[in-house]
Amino acid sequence: MQESIRRIGILTGGGDAPGLNAVIRAVVKTAINEHGWEVLGIEDGYEGLLFHREPRRLTTDDVRGILHQGGTILGTSNRGNPFAYEVMIDGKEEIRNLSQDAMPRIRELGLDCLVVVGGDGSMKIALELSKLGARVVGVPKTIDNDLNATDMTFGFDTALHTATDALDKLHSTAESHHRVMILEVMGRDAGWIALECGLAGGADVILIPEIPFSPESVLESIRARDRAGRRFSLIVISEGARPVHGSQVYQEAGGEDRLPRLGGIGNQLAEMLRSMCQHEVRVTVLGHVQRGGSPSPFDRILATRLGAAAVRLIAEGGFGKMVALRNTQIVPVDLIDTIDVPKRVQPDGELARTARGLGLSFGE
Ligand code: F6P
Repeated sequence: MQESIRRIGILTGGGDAPGLNAVIRAVVKTAINEHGWEVLGIEDGYEGLLFHREPRRLTTDDVRGILHQGGTILGTSNRGNPFAYEVMIDGKEEIRNLSQDAMPRIRELGLDCLVVVGGDGSMKIALELSKLGARVVGVPKTIDNDLNATDMTFGFDTALHTATDALDKLHSTAESHHRVMILEVMGRDAGWIALECGLAGGADVILIPEIPFSPESVLESIRARDRAGRRFSLIVISEGARPVHGSQVYQEAGGEDRLPRLGGIGNQLAEMLRSMCQHEVRVTVLGHVQRGGSPSPFDRILATRLGAAAVRLIAEGGFGKMVALRNTQIVPVDLIDTIDVPKRVQPDGELARTARGLGLSFGE
């Protein structure tokens, strides 16, 4: 047991995900109830740490009534990587390593450990900070579910509910108007949301980044349905999907300190289909709706278990690790193992084979 812990910090980094507040609540309550530690909430992710924003002392009162709330009471940011921070010098963007500012800041705040709740980007930074001597413990989150070190991330289940609900709603209007409906969902380079939403909502075609698609093959699926008297089709497309002879579609280019912003492939596919068939084609881009809303019971429970386990890990001195879900148990894994290849859909894995067996097309 680590007897030396008196004060811990917690920050939420990267894109938000439903369940972040459940983690914060679990960390604060477990740290105070079981150990009598003080908890400081760092606002706006690593930016708040770097730029000396006054942290909030979190009491059990502060985390009352937040379990069911989406978002994060601490705020978050995709920016603020201390190892690659974008600064303006003489009107020009430059990338600076500000990590030398982060370490004294952690010492100045008297943090005996920092809990980082985030995705792969936040875990990479946590690992680098731990190499510099900071005591950190990670908690995985992302709606994309693309972290290899954990069986599931919280946020994914809620996003899946939102996407499936949208697909269910598109189903009836597609059928009434005999239209082809395209639903573009998030997920970055992983097709989990698209695949599982397509399976749950009975899509006819699922297009994911892991399986480049041919527009002609998508068209053939629509025509096959027409021939069978099913005059409408539902297509779920992941924002990171791309045609066999094309590339991913971006809204915004990335940089050294940020990932490119995907989006637009749904409309591109609609244009292709309109030029090849008589069907009316409509596109719904679900966007950030998938990141919002009240977390599902599954996400609330997973987030709560992870938050409590992070505190137990700190008490045991398990620094430089992340808590993860493996085979229904919450276990510690080394941070270094969290940043390897992202978890992707296996094109010939069980889920994909199940989908094919049901007659779904991946546009191959
Ligand atoms: O990683 C989560 C995620 O929602 C992705 O699915 C999506 O591509 C991205 O974040 C959107 O990021 P932003 O909030 O910067 O638009």
